Amino acid sequence: MRIDIVTIFPGFFDVLDVSLLGKARLQGLLQVRAHDLRDYTHDRHRTVDDTPYGGGAGMVMRPEPWGEALDDVLAEDGDPVVIFPSPAGERFSQPIAAELAQEGHLVFACGRYEGIDQRVVEHTAQRARVRELSLGDYVLNGGEVAALAMIEAIARLVPGVIGNPASLDEESHSELGLLEYPSYTKPAAWRGLEVPDVLLSGNHGAIARWRRAQQEERTRRVRPDLLQD
Ligand code: ADE
Repeated sequence: MRIDIVTIFPGFFDVLDVSLLGKARLQGLLQVRAHDLRDYTHDRHRTVDDTPYGGGAGMVMRPEPWGEALDDVLAEDGDPVVIFPSPAGERFSQPIAAELAQEGHLVFACGRYEGIDQRVVEHTAQRARVRELSLGDYVLNGGEVAALAMIEAIARLVPGVIGNPASLDEESHSELGLLEYPSYTKPAAWRGLEVPDVLLSGNHGAIARWRRAQQEERTRRVRPDLLQD
């Protein structure tokens, strides 16, 4: 999978060099490139934003550098999906991550939170598939942190990135629609706290039933909204 990111903070994405995703990059499973939006400006101050038409607080990103940056990134072969992280977008979720993990090329267009001139989204939709995606119901300063979270959620579902694909099936927000059960490892007793007996019993049926009951109890308590439909 190839991932291009357009941002005024390319350094934000240096963290993708480490951990599992860094390894996936070394293995060639993932190619990530961060492009500096300011490289597509033509004035001395490398201006990327301006005051909003109609008034209001904050600044809006001007369309011209975005147009040129996306011309560049979209000029290459393939049929990319362009993602605009935005608090006004559709809510990102595990099913969307799974869907996007099937793609060969993703482009993340990271704007500041007041947004990018909406014509950039419109124009991009004329030449590529576009998704406006929100990480959740809160406001970040820009799309970068949201893009990083989405990239991690998507890339770990790309075949080969995670060593043991079975671990993907059991985790929270997988197809079952329940939160994950609690996990324990050695030692069996630690600071006066014991691992639940059933996990030491060797009875696989009882362990599976206990885990399922824990998932249901935890989901009911913490996220009853997941049980609605
Ligand atoms: N940019 C600012 N806030 C955001 C959010 N919640 N999700 C995605 N992008 C954002």
